[in-house]
Amino acid sequence: MSTEPLRLALIIGSTREGRFGPTVARWFLDRVKQRDDFAVDVVDLAEHELPFVMTSQLTPEGARALGEVTPRLEAAEAFVVVTPEYNHSFPASLKNLVDWHGKQWHAKPVGFVSYGGLSGGLRAVEALRPVFAEVHSVTVRATVSFHNAWEQFGPDGEPVDREGAGAAATYLLDQLGWWATTLRAGRERRPYVS
Ligand SMILES: Cc1cc2nc3c(=O)[nH]c(=O)nc-3n(C[C@H](O)[C@H](O)[C@H](O)COP(=O)(O)O)c2cc1C
Repeated sequence: MSTEPLRLALIIGSTREGRFGPTVARWFLDRVKQRDDFAVDVVDLAEHELPFVMTSQLTPEGARALGEVTPRLEAAEAFVVVTPEYNHSFPASLKNLVDWHGKQWHAKPVGFVSYGGLSGGLRAVEALRPVFAEVHSVTVRATVSFHNAWEQFGPDGEPVDREGAGAAATYLLDQLGWWATTLRAGRERRPYVS
């Protein structure tokens, strides 16, 4: 069985102008980089304008965006989705990303880092779970969430509750690592049944 670091795609879901997402993502990325069990690739959806209509008649820009993103999802063995909450759910950009892909998600674990107003983005997370189940992914129970997120980070980009947030990130990554290792071995042993 491979003992290489687990290839993790860290997906930044918000694409809004003036978004807060990168603050949360940068902090989490730092946490991942402090470990040696993951090799991380950041997929920022604001940098790849995926077409909204699923068509084979792609514009050159749409084809390029898909060509940039799809192989990176394919290569990933685990995902962490950084999601805000919009109107009690997750952003359309994330649904679009999921819908454009299929086997890239299969038999791989997904963890969530969420943020938002009072609910800390947890309603977005709960709405994402059945979506990822449909594409044959396993969602990890542990979550990291920030309510009123703009109050939770200092000017240095670190969480105000550094210790609590750090412990939550460690727990999430430990669970994700367990699933990613287990599913890597499972996929190596025999092809996933989809
Ligand atoms: C269209 C829209 C809808 C929102 N709806 C909610 C909501 O239902 N619950 C909540 O807690 N926060 C809500 N918020 C607050 C966002 O979660 C918060 O602004 C967050 O920073 C958005 O992420 P972003 O800045 O990365 O785009 C909403 C924000 C927007 C722009």
